[in-house]
Amino acid sequence: MVNRWRDGRRLPGGDARLSITYITLRLPSPLTPAYNPPFLDLSSTEGPVKRIKAIYPGSFDPPTNGHLDLIERGSKIFDELVVAILRNPEKDPLFSVADRRKMLEAMTSGLDNVSVDTFDGLTVDYALRVEARAILRGIRAISDYEYELQMALMNRKLQPGLETVFMMPAEKYSYLSSRLVREVAQLGGSIECLVPDLVEQKVREKIDVAHKFTNREQSAGKTPSEGKSKSRKKKL
Ligand code: PNS
Repeated sequence: MVNRWRDGRRLPGGDARLSITYITLRLPSPLTPAYNPPFLDLSSTEGPVKRIKAIYPGSFDPPTNGHLDLIERGSKIFDELVVAILRNPEKDPLFSVADRRKMLEAMTSGLDNVSVDTFDGLTVDYALRVEARAILRGIRAISDYEYELQMALMNRKLQPGLETVFMMPAEKYSYLSSRLVREVAQLGGSIECLVPDLVEQKVREKIDVAHKFTNREQSAGKTPSEGKSKSRKKKL
């Protein structure tokens, strides 16, 4: 193999198997308002290599083995992957954002290029803030497609410079969702193999506490709905 400079001149060393890597820091042009985040262009004599950062936004309430499968796949494709938990004040989640963050951090501790963060507002605005170039989303079945397509196209309308990348989790997780995990666990079914062990334990603890609370209210002669409204009032 003959190595050459970019302008075509031969590198010293003849046929030696030498590969040179040079780094260019590209900065966004003030003349082009379109999204153009700075990134390190690691070029080598064997061709350009772009460093791509992606975000994987979601609710993760709770994170499942399907989420983990997608994170692992994403971490192999992207140089950097940020799992971004939406802070949504309108939802009544099973887990607080802090709990979800801890679970995801533990689940991804072995993946060096994966980090966990939280955000509110528009996903595209968050992506811009962290200088990501792509949004990763999972598609399990055709039923996911319509919603995901709608979201991807809206995100593209809002920010044309960002790409949405869809990946499929393993087939064994194609029926799995956080909503079903919560429902099965709340009705006493097993969620083993659907979520990592540490998440299973946390879900059990949460549901045991909720059951104890309901039983106490029922034995005090209240209907579940009376108990609920009381507990809501207490929170306020
Ligand atoms: O895990 P989920 O609940 O399917 O994730 C949905 C999520 C968080 C990706 C989506 O609701 C979202 O992006 N929310 C942030 C607000 C936003 O950007 N809305 C416009 C989306 S087109």
